[in-house]
This record gives sequence, C-alpha cells and structure tokens, in this order.
Amino acid sequence: MKGDLIVHNAAELVTCSGFSAKSGKAMADLNIIPDGAVVIQDGVITAVGPSNEVMAAVDPKDKTVINAAGKAVLPGLVDSHTHFLFAGHRPEEFLLRLKGASYLEILRQGGGILSTVQATRKATREVLKTMGLQRLDCMLAQGVTTVEGKSGYGLDMETELKQLSVMAELADLHPLDIAVTCMGAHALPEEYRARADDYLDFLCQALLPQVAARGLAEFCDVFCEKGVFSLDQSRRLLLTAKDLGLKPKCHVDEIEPLGGAEMAAEIGAVSADHLLRSSDQGIAALADAGVTAVLLPTSAFCMQKDYARARCMIDRGCAVALATDLNPGSCFSGSIPLLLALAVLNMHMTPAEAVTALTINGAAAIGRADQIGSLDVGKKGDLIILEFPSHVYLPYHTGVNCVETVIKSGCVVYEKWKGVSSAC
Ligand code: NIG
Ligand code: FE
Repeated sequence: MKGDLIVHNAAELVTCSGFSAKSGKAMADLNIIPDGAVVIQDGVITAVGPSNEVMAAVDPKDKTVINAAGKAVLPGLVDSHTHFLFAGHRPEEFLLRLKGASYLEILRQGGGILSTVQATRKATREVLKTMGLQRLDCMLAQGVTTVEGKSGYGLDMETELKQLSVMAELADLHPLDIAVTCMGAHALPEEYRARADDYLDFLCQALLPQVAARGLAEFCDVFCEKGVFSLDQSRRLLLTAKDLGLKPKCHVDEIEPLGGAEMAAEIGAVSADHLLRSSDQGIAALADAGVTAVLLPTSAFCMQKDYARARCMIDRGCAVALATDLNPGSCFSGSIPLLLALAVLNMHMTPAEAVTALTINGAAAIGRADQIGSLDVGKKGDLIILEFPSHVYLPYHTGVNCVETVIKSGCVVYEKWKGVSSAC
C-alpha cells in the first residue's frame, strides 16, 4: 500500500520535525508551518513547506489532492505500548479493585494477567485475528498509524509464538504498522509457581532464542515488580535478550519503587515504561542515558494511582512518550482522546509536549524515529487531518476524537463518517 498524495492549505502543518527523540525543552517545539503543505510520492514524504512554495514546485497530476483549509495536519500517531492482542475480559476484577482489592494480590491468587492467559491459550488464531483487526480499526480511527503490541498472555512456547505470529499476520492484513514485543516475562505461569528462576531459564534458553531466530519480535519486555520479576531477574532476562538481538523494554516502578528506571538506564533499554514511582535518581539516570520514558496515564487513572511525574521528567531533560497501555486488566482503554486529556489536564504536560510524546517520541520508544513520527522528507507518508485548525483541540475538545482523515503511506485509510478502507 503506497500512494501519491498532496495535502495543502493546512491551517497548521504540525511537522514535529526531527529524526530522534526530543528531550526536555525541545519537546515543546512542534515546528509548525502555518498554511502548510506536504507531498507524498510512492508512500514517502517528498516535500514539506508553505503551501505556495510546495504547490509551485509539484505536479498534482495523478495525485490525490486534499485541501485542508481550516484544519490541522499532524504526523500519524504512534502508540508505543499496548497489550492489544488478548482473549477474554476481566470485569469481575474491575469490580474487585473498585472495592479495594490490590492488582498484585489478584495476580498472586491466580487471577489478573493469569486469567487472560487461560483465555488466550484457549483462543484460536482466527478468534485472535478477528479481535485484533477490530482493535486495530479502532486505533486507526483515532489517528494511530503505528502501534506496538506485546505477547505475554501465553507464558508457554505455543501460545507466545501464537500471539507473536498472529501480530505479524495482522500487520500484513491491516494498514497499521505493528512493532512486535515478546513479553514472555509478563507474569509467572501457574506451572512454574514459586520457580521463577526456572521460568527465566525457559525464557532465556528456549523462548527468546526461538523468537529471535524466527524474527518474530523486535523487542523484549519484562514486568519488573515486587512479587513478579525482581530487578536482578529482569536484568538477566533483558541482557540475554539484548545478546540475541532483541531490544530491551521494561515495565518498571509501576506499583513499588524497585529502582527499575536505574536498571533500564544501566542496561541501555530502548524505553522504560510506567514509572509511576520512579525516584529522582532514576529519572536523572533515564535522562542521562537517553532512555525514552513511556508514560501511561490512562493506566494510572484506571488503577487509581498517582500519575508519573511527567513535569519533573521533562524539566530534568527526559524524552517522554505517551502510550495507551491497552490491555484487559489494568487499563481496558485504547482511547487517545482520554490519554491526551489526562496527560495535559492531570499530568500538566502542555498540548505541544503531548503531541511530541505521541509522535516523534512514540516513534523513538520503538526505535523508529528515523522512519516515522514527523513530517520530514524521506519519512513514511503517515499523517492525520483534524476537524479543527490547531493541535490544541486534541486535549481541549476533551475526550472527543477530533481526527477526520487518516493517511497511511500516502493512502487515505480512514475518513470520519465513511469508516476504514485498506484499499489504496
Ligand atoms: O502494563 N503491569 C503489567 N502489565 C500490564 C497489565 C496487564 C494486565 O493486567 O493484563 C500493564 O499494566
Ligand atoms: Fe503494559
């Protein structure tokens, strides 16, 4: 799927220009071109600039031309942390948590992640594929053009490989790009109860080598948490993954402050995620090591926890990304409008910082800042057109989807009121 297309007269062309993560103060700079235009040829951006200059230099013949007068145009959004491929739901756990039950206690008693593991082990590939496609459609309609998806609801060879390979199939079937992460270290499966080191041996000696050899994932992730995987176990797993060519990511300092941010910095993770309870030293270490801090405000909101310290991180010079954490337990929401509202109104990021966090920094969190996440010549022609003239409407029109048109590799793949189409 590769198209030729011109978008011109955009009230603001929010380029987010850059080829690497933006940290600290640079997060506020969106490089906006008023009355801007962008040209995509064969799926790739070939020109970006003021409409009069771009239009004078381009031949519109055989190209789709979109007049974006009165509308803001942004890079396609990058949701850099999800667990979108799962079977079954957990409403009973939601009720328990509303009554005060703790997430880790539910997991310890064999519920939580482990109940989704049971359902996902039973689900056929076809069922997972159908649900996956519906969830991807939903993301696309909110302007997401690239998503990261984790395994971790299998916790055995067969089901982990099933989840990973279904994601590869989905990427072929659907316009969205999917960055795939192996998260075999999401929880300790019942078969290995009280034998965490044996399970780690299985991951390091059997699952990860198989995943790496078959090219089924680009990243490896771990739930580093009290009662799940310790700091040392997480380090061991991620270093093994790194040796196998899988880039490390980690769920750290979410419920208990274990020093996960420091560990992520020490091993050179691509991203450190959650970070609700990270220490000042941990935040400084992430900034100094250039590890992207992926914040998941919807997850904190649903878990009724204090938010990650986004302002402190940005002020200390971190590169912050925002992602949904869509999953059936801690955060059954892939809502981009809710995520943006929480980031701006509750975590006190500016609208500009939030846009950076969901575009170029989201791309950096999955190692793709050189390919997507901004409107720069040479990048993939992924962009979104809003119903409104400025990016500020994204949080300001609170909780409402402002995305009117989604363009993937130069092809219109979603138009509000018309729905999704994967045909170019
Ligand atoms: O990122 N914290 C661990 N993993 C997921 C939740 C998965 C689940 O509850 O099913 C998270 O929040
Ligand atoms: Fe997660």
